Order: sequence, then C-alpha cells, then structure tokens
Amino acid sequence: MNLNIKTFIFCLIFLFNFYGNLKAQASNVYKESIIKERAKASGYDLPSSTHIPVDENMAAIGKDLFESENLSLNGGVACVSCHFDKAASGDGLPNAIGIGGDGEGISRYKAGGKVVPRNTLALWGVGGKGFSTFFWDGRVSRSGETITSQFGKDTPSEDLLITAVHLPVVEIRETLQEDYVVKSFKKETTSAADEIYKRVVENLIVKEPALMKKLAKEIGVNFEEIEFINIATALAHFIRSEFKLRPSKFSKFIEGETSLNEDELNGGLLFYGKGGCVSCHSGPYFSDFNFYTVPFPQLGFGKNGFGIDYGLYNSTFNPEDQYKFRTPSLHNVSKTRPYSHSGAVMSLDETIQYHFDPLQFFDAKKMTPLQRHQYNKYLAKNDTNEIVQYLNDKEVSQIASFLKTLDLDENEK
Ligand code: HEC
Ligand code: HEC
Repeated sequence: MNLNIKTFIFCLIFLFNFYGNLKAQASNVYKESIIKERAKASGYDLPSSTHIPVDENMAAIGKDLFESENLSLNGGVACVSCHFDKAASGDGLPNAIGIGGDGEGISRYKAGGKVVPRNTLALWGVGGKGFSTFFWDGRVSRSGETITSQFGKDTPSEDLLITAVHLPVVEIRETLQEDYVVKSFKKETTSAADEIYKRVVENLIVKEPALMKKLAKEIGVNFEEIEFINIATALAHFIRSEFKLRPSKFSKFIEGETSLNEDELNGGLLFYGKGGCVSCHSGPYFSDFNFYTVPFPQLGFGKNGFGIDYGLYNSTFNPEDQYKFRTPSLHNVSKTRPYSHSGAVMSLDETIQYHFDPLQFFDAKKMTPLQRHQYNKYLAKNDTNEIVQYLNDKEVSQIASFLKTLDLDENEK
C-alpha cells in the first residue's frame, strides 16, 4: 500500500514535469516561429544574400593599400590605424584619432593625435547589396537613381563604396595635415581634392612601386597611368571580401540549424515586438538606412563645435535634419563599443536605455546651462520616444543577449 502511494506520487511528479517541459517547449516553438515570421516581414535575409562578387587579386592589392601609411599623403596614418581586427574593424575609441596618433586604440590618444570628432564605424557588410547610405550623416548615399556625395555631379563612381573610400584620403585631421591643406589650397574644395588625389597616387608610385606595378598589371594600364579611382576600386574589393557578412547564430537559427536560448528568444521577441527596435533596425543589415535622433549625449567636441554635431544637416543643410544620424547596422555590435555617433556610451544595455529613458543618466544640476540647453534640443527631436516602450532592466539585458546572436562567425565564408 505504502509503496503504491509512493509510486503514485512519483508518477504524478513525473507527469507534472513532463507536462511542464512540454509546455515550455511548445511556448519556445511558438516564440521561435513569431521571431522567424517577423524577421522575414522586416526584410531580414541571410548574410550571403548581401554578397557582391570580388576579384581576389584586386582584394589582395586592396589589403596592402588598406594597411599602407603611404595612402595618407602626409599624415602617416593607414586605414588599418582606425579599422583593426582587435576592435572588430572599429578602433575601440569614443572618437577616432587621426594624424599624430601612434599604434592602435588608446595609445593613439596618448601619442597626442588629432581628434576626428566621430565614433569610428565598423566595416561589416559595408558596400554589400542594398547598402545605400554611408557614414553617420549619409554624406555618400543613393536614393533611387540619385547619388548624393560631396563630389556633386562628378561622383567618382556609381559604386557607392568606391565613392565612399575616396573620402578618408582627403579628410583633414583623419589622414591629412591641416597646415598642408591650408597652405597649398587655402580651403577644402573639390578641385583641391582632385589635386590631393593626384599627389597621393604620385606618392604611392614613389613609395610603393612594387604594389603599384602589381595594380597596373592587374588593370592592364601603364604604371604612370594609374589614377586614384583604381586605388579606390582595389580598396573596395578588399573591404567587400574581408568584411562581408558571415553566418551568425541568428542566421543559423533562421535556417533551422540551431536554436536560441531562453534569454535570446525573449530578447528577440522584444526586439521585434514591444521594444520596437525593428521599426528602424530592419533588413539584412538591421538598418533601414534612414535618419533619426536618439538622445545620445554629445560629450566634448562634435563635428560642428563643442558639444554639437548636426548630423544629417551637414550633408543636406536642411534645418529639419539637425541631430539626425543614420541608423547603424547591428552585426558584431557586441564587439564595437563604445556606441553612437559620439561614442559617448560604453555598454550595450545603456545604449538600449538611451533610446527610451535617457534622463536616468544625467544630473541636471551638474550640467552647465549651455549643456542643458543643447541636450533639450536632442530631446525635442527624439524619434524613439513614441516607438520604444518602457523596458525593465531584465528586458534590456535580454535584448542585449539577442544582439549578441548577431555576432558574425569570422571562420565561416
Ligand atoms: C583616423 C581614423 C580613421 C582612418 C585613418 C580611416 N577611417 Fe574610416 N572611418 C573613421 C570614422 C570616424 C568613420 C565614421 C565617420 C563619419 O561617419 O563621419 C569611418 C567610416 C568609414 C566608412 C563608412 C562606413 C559606413 O558604415 O558607412 C568607410 C567605408 C571607411 N571608414 C573606410 C576607410 C578607409 C578605406 C580608410 C583608409 C583610406 C579609412 N576608413 C581610414 C575613422 C577612420
Ligand atoms: C526610431 C528609430 C530607432 C529605433 C526605434 C531604435 N533605434 Fe537604435 N539607433 C537608431 C539610430 C538613428 C542610432 C544612431 C544614433 C546616433 O548615433 O546618434 C541607433 C543606435 C543604436 C545602437 C548603437 C550602435 C552603434 O554601433 O553605435 C544600438 C546597439 C541600437 N541602436 C539598438 C537598438 C535597440 C536594441 C532598439 C530597440 C530597443 C533600438 N535600437 C531602437 C535608431 C533607432
């Protein structure tokens, strides 16, 4: 009798557990299907769908150029000084440090390099299919058939990436010494830029003759006929090959090859649901390539002066566009802190919180009146307030766990 009761109770517990597990499994299956459905509806597609074929020989030449300080006419800076592997193709700094910097990351600060008042963008997926807007302020972009860039009608290439890689080379402080440009050209204009491109090529021919011979042979021209567009094209091949989107845990989940854990699933539901993230972070890059104001603080110098960066306004001159920035893509975002155009936020959790509850980070009495005034303008323009609902700390950390599933597996093609 005793034994029977024990067996009965045992069976009951077993059944309860079994039912509990079954219910949890059923609810996970349900969550999985919602995430998959919403990802698809928001234009998500597998990383491979964004790939553009590259010429491997040109990519190899592009790699050497990317790593060469001789691409900077007189600044001794290479692309790789600010876009290096350890920082997942960013530089790990709030603001980039250009000429006068030394080495990687914080040592560039310590060496007293010049500040470029923007957070370095990582290069994952940049220039892939449908990647239509470059830089935080969209100063190279395409809308329909129209290409916008500083070059006006003389856009160097229909290929936006090729046009975009023209810019770092003529950017004062980033790769060029200011005195040199002021002395030689008085101001930054497109004809000054043309002259600088010519000099960059001449400089490369003198300092990197073997590489330039390889490039000349590859494109079938004489050594002396190389133009900057050829250099930019090689750089674009390299960037498209090296930083193409690779499979992520999320893409494998979408393909049914792996499952997400509890936190990742709940984070995914919030990302596509109450969090409203997907309203802007959509498509295969998790960016709609549009412009919004998220009230991130502008500490220190900004592009337009102390504490000020007008963002998109810098490329459109439309007052309505002040403080708007391109929605950043989110692949590898767990590895590219600090965050935002100003690089003022250190953690993913806080970055998410800034979208819906920025005031928790400020003590208004400790701000100067000017800082408060400036921050008011950000708040007045805030586009996320209506979309992102209040999220508690647990929900924020679940979304951060979900964002980590967007890390790319660099060992895969
Ligand atoms: C001094 C540091 C620095 C150097 C050197 C540098 N970059 Fe950058 N890069 C940045 C910063 C900062 C940004 C974001 C600038 C902005 O949006 O205003 C950026 C953005 C970019 C982007 C746009 C990415 C996107 O998502 O739109 C590309 C492409 C790029 N860099 C390529 C290069 C190449 C190629 C070189 C070498 C010719 C180079 N960079 C040299 C700091 C640097
Ligand atoms: C209204 C559009 C919009 C919504 C909704 C939105 N974001 Fe953003 N997000 C942006 C823009 C624009 C930026 C860049 C703003 C800047 O740097 O000034 C950004 C920046 C970020 C960054 C920093 C990326 C980096 O590389 O610096 C992360 C992470 C991020 N958002 C995640 C989220 C999450 C998670 C949600 C949902 C809780 C969300 N966003 C909702 C537009 C949006």
